[in-house]
Amino acid sequence: MVWLEPREVARFELDDLLGGGTGVVNDVHWHAHAPHLSQSIEIDAEAAAIVGGLGATAWVDAQALIDAHGTQRIEGLLAAGLIVSDDTRHAAHRAADETHRAQQWFGLSSVMHAASRWSGVDAAAEVQEAGLYSPLGLRNAYGIPPPTFHDRGEPDTRIALERAPRTDFDELLDLRSTCRNFDTTRALPRAQFANVLERVFGARGQVEAAEDFEVIKRTSPSGGAMHPTEAYLIVRNVEGIDAGLYHYRPGDHALQPLPPVDDLEKLAFFAVGGQQWFADAHVLAVLAPRFQRNFWKYRNHPKAYRVTILDIGHLSQTLFLSAIDLGLGAYITAAINEVDIEKAFGLTHYIEGPLAVCGFGLRGGEMVTSEFDPNRKAWPRKSPPAE
Ligand SMILES: Cc1cc2nc3c(=O)[nH]c(=O)nc-3n(C[C@H](O)[C@H](O)[C@H](O)COP(=O)(O)O)c2cc1C
Repeated sequence: MVWLEPREVARFELDDLLGGGTGVVNDVHWHAHAPHLSQSIEIDAEAAAIVGGLGATAWVDAQALIDAHGTQRIEGLLAAGLIVSDDTRHAAHRAADETHRAQQWFGLSSVMHAASRWSGVDAAAEVQEAGLYSPLGLRNAYGIPPPTFHDRGEPDTRIALERAPRTDFDELLDLRSTCRNFDTTRALPRAQFANVLERVFGARGQVEAAEDFEVIKRTSPSGGAMHPTEAYLIVRNVEGIDAGLYHYRPGDHALQPLPPVDDLEKLAFFAVGGQQWFADAHVLAVLAPRFQRNFWKYRNHPKAYRVTILDIGHLSQTLFLSAIDLGLGAYITAAINEVDIEKAFGLTHYIEGPLAVCGFGLRGGEMVTSEFDPNRKAWPRKSPPAE
């Protein structure tokens, strides 16, 4: 499966300028996105035509291709994995292609999923350098944003709604906020750590929907009731749990220790795109669906990937509320280095792919990094620093 993207790249050419042009010339660069590979590959127009001329299922004779385009070209495309063969020399690419197909991805979703992954990106530094960190920086760079509230219809036709008396649930909802200031001096009590995991990711019920087809109940909804999302944990600072990598087991509410990485702090930093304020969390939970668990039901379905992403959003909100109910701080980020996370946990992006990282832990005593807390719910202690 390959999607060919013609990418326009502008370059300066003096001859064009001297000839009365603008000097800016646009070239087309072809990028081949094959989701069974770890990254896209730039190819020339002739290679794009060769790949574009081959089907995804019908086998063709390699010799005929070599006769038409030369050994070097075809061997090059085979070595890159953009075409597959039954030669044992290309067995790894063929196996990856077959495993990828077996997941039942909708093709464009798979391309999008693979193409949106990062490796080693320090997004925090990039945003800072571009002057886009503060609201003022954004406003200066991009002008006025679309309006906060969206008006439809005529004002005199609007129906005012009653406001309900506040309950404890309103209190909890209003406490939800993104924590960017964790306490790096204290360990998270183990009981609180376990409690959050049980509330968010634990199986609260289990039924056999059909023979050999078990379905679990969680506190969040899941498209098709398949609950494909796994929680992989970077435990940094929890009482009685060694710092390291773990897989959470929803069925028996247990941790499976995984092989260690050389530098846990570096992994935490890159897992959240260089945002130290998030890397400081006592626990970072990588949310990674086992795609086939959902795609088994919604085969090659154009909505299926969307459903797995929506599941992440639900889990995140439940994690926020579960943590905040215990007086803890929490966050979610999608600014993650998927490739670094995959390497650390031994994941293959098209089988089990990180979509977000949620962190939680003890809140710090001082707001060093800004938080959005206009009603002073998260921060009754101190005013936020001036921007
Ligand atoms: C999907 C998602 C991704 C986010 N990514 C980041 C992030 O990378 N860095 C960050 O500081 N905040 C991130 N946030 C937090 C938002 O900035 C935050 O929700 C927003 O400012 C509103 O603040 P509140 O959550 O405290 O109400 C993310 C939120 C969501 C829902």
